[in-house]
Amino acid sequence: MKFFVDTADIDAIRELHELNMVDGVTTNPSLIMKSGRDIFEVTREICEMVSGPVSAEVVATEYEQMLAEGRKLAEIADNIAIKVPLTLDGLRACKTFSDEGHMVNVTLCFSANQALLAAKAGATFISPFIGRMDDINLDGLDLIADIRRIYDNYGYETQVLAASIRTPNHISDCAKIGADVITAPPAVLKGLANHPLTDKGLAAFVADAEKAGIKIV
Ligand code: E4P
Repeated sequence: MKFFVDTADIDAIRELHELNMVDGVTTNPSLIMKSGRDIFEVTREICEMVSGPVSAEVVATEYEQMLAEGRKLAEIADNIAIKVPLTLDGLRACKTFSDEGHMVNVTLCFSANQALLAAKAGATFISPFIGRMDDINLDGLDLIADIRRIYDNYGYETQVLAASIRTPNHISDCAKIGADVITAPPAVLKGLANHPLTDKGLAAFVADAEKAGIKIV
């Protein structure tokens, strides 16, 4: 399973990159706003650090304008995945970008039928937002399982990119279902390493090492 980090915070990406936890990055207009930086400047910096796919989202809602924006974003670096919303215009833009050889991430997916359309439009990634579904009492993980099954039924190569991840459990559940990629905020990714028994066990080993005067180097 690939790990993408869902942020435009360069320092947070660098920290996780040094921990070998970044296979790619996803951004969206809200995350760019949070970074307080220019979209081209910050996206270029991310692409220089991370060799995997870096999603940069169009803000237009109409096909022709999406094409203009997506092509401009794709000029930033070869590893840009153009992110388009799951609308009819977005799906049309997805097909055009995909035919041109660009990676495309279709975002804001909330149903299996939407995911089916994205695969037919040649999307590289489909982004179902599981946390936002859970927020309104729908089951985001059921959606991931449905999309996995549908894509496997027909051999679609579109990668299931589970997005809007809120907890470490979301990640292990997505891994069990067979999502290809998860994208999560930095704190959730770092939280994967936490376990109270690890902390307790380590504290005991450190104390015993001191008592025994163990010195290795
Ligand atoms: C995915 O590409 C989105 O940027 C992201 O996962 C949305 O997450 P949120 O629901 O926490 O805003």
